Amino acid sequence: MITFHIITIFPHILDSYLSESILKRAQKNKLIKVKIYDLRKFSKDKHKKARPTEQSFGRVDAKPYGGGPGMVMQAEPLIKAVASILKIKNQKSKIKNKTKIILFSPVGKQFDSASSRSFAKKYKDIILIAGRYEGIDARVKKIFKAEEVSIGPYVLMGGELPAMVLIDSISRQVKGVLGSEESLEDERGLGIPAYTRPETVRYKDKNYKVPKVLLSGDHKKIEEWRKGQSK
Ligand code: ADE
Repeated sequence: MITFHIITIFPHILDSYLSESILKRAQKNKLIKVKIYDLRKFSKDKHKKARPTEQSFGRVDAKPYGGGPGMVMQAEPLIKAVASILKIKNQKSKIKNKTKIILFSPVGKQFDSASSRSFAKKYKDIILIAGRYEGIDARVKKIFKAEEVSIGPYVLMGGELPAMVLIDSISRQVKGVLGSEESLEDERGLGIPAYTRPETVRYKDKNYKVPKVLLSGDHKKIEEWRKGQSK
């Protein structure tokens, strides 16, 4: 089982995705576990009425040293959150070196299928720090030797969706997460056009037909056609 630990200031933002379909089943079957940590609970100011809108919440951001626009996520709440997760783990076993700590950034190392497979194979616990604002105090990365990961060449509002992308992709690699039908689907190969009933789809007075070879029943020919289509 892989346990994903997500540190975020929006602890419910991923609830719906995690409570449907394959990821729901994977959690139920104890193949993966997802634990969410509300970063504000690790802030010193937790019980201070800092701002009227932040009644019982702690501050987790501050202005950048040296000036500049935006806010930076402070190191201390993040350090406390990560440390608390690591401590729980350490008590249990020597899990620590099987724990990976990931920070998200648009300029991090590009996440791909190879990293997904490797993470699934190597780690029992994956801590995902979902930053917001203009970034995370650089000392967090240094202290925990965290890896900075990007999910693509675009800038998102925060690390929550990247965290979800990693969970989805890594979970697919865990044995038993995909059912037999879904695995077959996977084996069919990426990039090969798929068709299902009906044989003819009509749209704006035009017919769109299934390639004849797929209806021929000739498995050798179908295989050849698929090979020709695959990218
Ligand atoms: N945070 C903002 N944009 C991101 C991206 N593309 N990948 C990972 N983290 C991000």
